[in-house]
Amino acid sequence: MKKLLTMLLIAVIATTSVFANGQTESSTAKDAKKVGVSMPTKSLQRWNQDGSNMKAKLEAAGYKVDLQYAGDNDIPTQVNQVENMIMSGCDAIVIAAIDGSALTEVLIEAKEENIPVIAYDRLIMNSDAVSYYATFDNYQVGTIQGQFVENALNLKSRTDSVNMEFFTGAPDDNNCVFFFGGAIDVLKPYITSGQINILSGQTTRAQVSTPNWSTEEAQKRMENLITSNGYGPEGTKLDAVLCSNDSTAQGVTNALIEAGYTAENFPVVTGQDCDIPSVKNMIAGTQSMSVFKDTRTLADKVVTMVDSLMKGSEPEINDTTTYDNGTGVIPSYLCTPVFATTDNITELLVDSGYYTKADLGL
Ligand code: BGC
Repeated sequence: MKKLLTMLLIAVIATTSVFANGQTESSTAKDAKKVGVSMPTKSLQRWNQDGSNMKAKLEAAGYKVDLQYAGDNDIPTQVNQVENMIMSGCDAIVIAAIDGSALTEVLIEAKEENIPVIAYDRLIMNSDAVSYYATFDNYQVGTIQGQFVENALNLKSRTDSVNMEFFTGAPDDNNCVFFFGGAIDVLKPYITSGQINILSGQTTRAQVSTPNWSTEEAQKRMENLITSNGYGPEGTKLDAVLCSNDSTAQGVTNALIEAGYTAENFPVVTGQDCDIPSVKNMIAGTQSMSVFKDTRTLADKVVTMVDSLMKGSEPEINDTTTYDNGTGVIPSYLCTPVFATTDNITELLVDSGYYTKADLGL
């Protein structure tokens, strides 16, 4: 009797294999829609997290996923990967572009095939194939960094002047317009009044950009600035370096340490992403702050967007004015960035399960 019951049970499991959504395993695999996810690089922590979060969440929602990383920010590779996604029948494509303007041609095919395209974190420019954009409030990231410098240097009330330099990211990343713009909008009155001196004279976004957001490039530029302006603990004082993100901040920090700065006299250095090396620098006193953008929140939002589109409904958006990609404003969802210093990183990063204490060497 017991044996008969066991056999019956096995037979039931084998024939139905029912999934939560009521489909059988074979029909789920056959009918599941496929989503292409194109990420820029494996060499920066955040994009690995973005990619794996997206894959896990899309699969949990019942989609097949074609996740691709374009080597180390290789534009032709990204174009090829997106083309393959279109050709291999993806039903939707999510793209974090390396160069926001390099996908115009390939996306013409996506539009012809009626494949919705969602721009992930970075806006894709000059393409009417882009259906939606999901990102963080990039302008707010910049204002958070600018306000941090304003407070840390006590600019509202001090009467003497300070010396400062600026670093932003890749010239082909539309986000820099907002990161740099937000920070400059806060600091401009002080630059205009002469309270902030930028001894290098490098003040435009183009002059302070960093190709590919590369740590090495940022380090080289900071080393040059140190040499040409005499910055150093014993030399010309340097009060702050505004960096748009953590990968550039890490290069700047390396150069400042080489120049002899220590936690005791370190200039204010801003960042963004809460990458592990930068959080460790914050703990060591060699980076002052970062901006936390919880990649789980962005991935959740994009999965919900994809799901709505696949079910024929309108995705939720909260911004219809800010992001014009040259073909018109792209309906967007902006997640909220959060200011991070050593005062709140345990709560933000460890208690929320984003990192373990061991990840941060705590
Ligand atoms: C992202 C940042 C990131 C940077 C470098 C930007 O587009 O918004 O979070 O630090 O790219 O990868």
